[in-house]
Amino acid sequence: MKIEISHNICLTQITIEDKPSLLKYINDKDIYNNTLKIPFPYTEKDADDWISFVESSKTETGVLKHWAIKNENNELIGGIGFHTKYGLHSHKDEIGYWLGKPFWNKGIITEAVNKICSIGFTDFNLTRIEATVFTSNNSSKRVLEKAGFILEGTLRKFYYKDDKFIDAEIYTRLI
Ligand SMILES: CC(C)(COP(=O)(O)OP(=O)(O)OC[C@H]1O[C@@H](n2cnc3c(N)ncnc32)[C@H](O)[C@@H]1OP(=O)(O)O)[C@@H](O)C(=O)NCCC(=O)NCCS
Repeated sequence: MKIEISHNICLTQITIEDKPSLLKYINDKDIYNNTLKIPFPYTEKDADDWISFVESSKTETGVLKHWAIKNENNELIGGIGFHTKYGLHSHKDEIGYWLGKPFWNKGIITEAVNKICSIGFTDFNLTRIEATVFTSNNSSKRVLEKAGFILEGTLRKFYYKDDKFIDAEIYTRLI
């Protein structure tokens, strides 16, 4: 199913046909530096594993929770989704997202966050949506503020990556 958002952007399920554009845009040290689980370099196997994971989670649960962000040329330019952090039936969940660098600062992720929050509140019965952002990630913090999230606080030394502890900010939006 294709979910239309503004800026000629839509959300769809990722398929194997999206693999070349996934590899083209996600293979970026700045994306790696600001996220927890996206590898760098991002290999063909990483792409295959991700596409299979999204397919199998949808088959198992019956719902799609990770979307490809596509532009007007039907090219994958990013990704966004729910982590199912607290289990399938919880009233709360966490979101994550990334976008290819050529498309930054055009408002795309703010629109995508707003759209998946609506889906989360209506289709997944969520009451609370969380996002945790590395404290240094000013762009993502701004996205969350623009999308109506409230800063709840700093999670000190919350993540451990590349032999360093990283502070994070927790933002939430309630229904
Ligand atoms: C974070 C990210 C998803 C933002 O996507 P985007 O589509 O560019 O976001 P938007 O255009 O909707 O909003 C970005 C906002 O941050 C602002 N911004 C950009 N760089 C900034 C900086 N260094 N300091 C402060 N604000 C900054 C922009 O000006 C814009 O705000 P504005 O509309 O008030 O001008 C994208 O930069 C990205 O993929 N980064 C790497 C991966 C990542 O950080 N993922 C999120 C992990 S929590």
